[in-house]
Amino acid sequence: MNKKIYITTPIFYTNGNPHLGHIHTCCLGDFFSKAFKNFNYEVFFLTGTDEHGQKIANAAKTLNIPPQELVNKTSQVFKTLFEDYNINYDYFIRTTDENHKKNILEVWEILLKNNYLYKGVYKGLYAEKDECFYSPEETYVDKDNQRRATISNSEVVEVEEECYFFRLSAFKEKLLNFYETHEFTIPNNLKEELIKYTENLKDLCVSRNISWGIKIPNTNQTIYVWIDALFNYITAIGAIENYNKDLWANSLHIIGKDIIIFHGVYWPALLMAVGLQPPKHLFIHGWWLFNDSKMSKSLGNIIDPSKIKHKEYLRYFCLRQELLGHDGNFDKKHFIEIINNELIGKMLNLFYRFFSLINKNYGFNNIIEIDDFNKREDLILIKKQCLQHLEKFSSKHYINELINISNIANEYIDKNKIWQDFNLKHINYLVPLLDLLSTLLKGVLEETYNKIKNLYTLKTNNNKYEFSLLKLEPLFTKIENEEDI
Ligand code: MSP
Repeated sequence: MNKKIYITTPIFYTNGNPHLGHIHTCCLGDFFSKAFKNFNYEVFFLTGTDEHGQKIANAAKTLNIPPQELVNKTSQVFKTLFEDYNINYDYFIRTTDENHKKNILEVWEILLKNNYLYKGVYKGLYAEKDECFYSPEETYVDKDNQRRATISNSEVVEVEEECYFFRLSAFKEKLLNFYETHEFTIPNNLKEELIKYTENLKDLCVSRNISWGIKIPNTNQTIYVWIDALFNYITAIGAIENYNKDLWANSLHIIGKDIIIFHGVYWPALLMAVGLQPPKHLFIHGWWLFNDSKMSKSLGNIIDPSKIKHKEYLRYFCLRQELLGHDGNFDKKHFIEIINNELIGKMLNLFYRFFSLINKNYGFNNIIEIDDFNKREDLILIKKQCLQHLEKFSSKHYINELINISNIANEYIDKNKIWQDFNLKHINYLVPLLDLLSTLLKGVLEETYNKIKNLYTLKTNNNKYEFSLLKLEPLFTKIENEEDI
């Protein structure tokens, strides 16, 4: 039976258009999905939009349109962008879907029935931008006397409202034990953050006195947007009574570091409260920064992924930089250097370089017989190493492996000066290597992969392989300057 994996991105807030941080998360998810499929895993890849809550209600108010209209529009913007970036999700969930809303009300009923909810009054701090309750210790006062959340710099205000609380503190020991016994966070050291937070665990306010959300029966309140949002991961695979257990047992949530407490503390506890297992892994990436501050709509320092000319270049850059457990400055010069020198210079030009020699010596559409390469040890090892990087969830190391292959092939060409004596020995060595390189590129850059595969055919015929060049075209043009990005 094939191994299974359930890959999710966070669901994106629909108060505004997507930015680089959003596309970064999605490129990672799509890469893992395609690359694992390439290694015969059964994959389910989920993304979607987070459509309820105070910040969306207020964004709609500012625009003077109903929230439903805003979220319909914005979720479509996300879908269009994902198409442009070849993000091939298996399901796109929206939290305003009727099925999701029904499921969340079931979750609420179970929490009530299991006695994990009680009524009280929340008096404390709230940041609309993060849709998050903060303790005073998690905030600071800036030079303009504005209180802000330390992690996000978002404004926080005092609120006092009657609400339902979730008995989060009852899960302290269970959570600590879970962190101790599971390789939950990737990178592993980030579990310290979860442990620190959990040692001081308080109950969580889980309802709001706002109207844009899932209405709690017999009250005038709505369910706190994060409860609504987190359970999307279960709704999408069959909902609470009927969820796909095999997929859930192999779940990987890709998230940014700003939402680690929601996913690493609240979410496992909520799952335990309704009788389900915590997710298997959290893959936690850092932030894209611009001149050292976080890219965000409110700071106006956003790289708009829809305006990027070469979408595959940005995709490559995100996967190459990965940001696993650290932040990264989005530096345009560095971007151009990576694309021109590494992706094009080392990897893609290799195909053009080698295929030009084939063309010169054999022309198009002529069959060249190649020895069986199924047992070639160097190729077996490359595949094994790529799978290992994948199973450790490292797009960066996976791509490094592709660069290694390109270096090996380029060095072989140079060292043997194969253009001087272009013979079958060289072809036998290089064709299988380049064919493997292009196959492994599939998860990274699908369009490029398709372009390369359209240049040639490689078919089996009784333990022999038949290679034939169909056409020759340079795969890419280098980026001229920053305006060309
Ligand atoms: N709606 C919640 C997630 C709910 S999941 C049950 C949310 N949405 S978000 O739109 O604000 O963020 C979505 C993802 O984008 C998060 O993982 C966040 O970390 C990521 N990014 C937002 N800004 C970012 C950068 N500047 N850089 C990299 N990723 C960042 O949170």
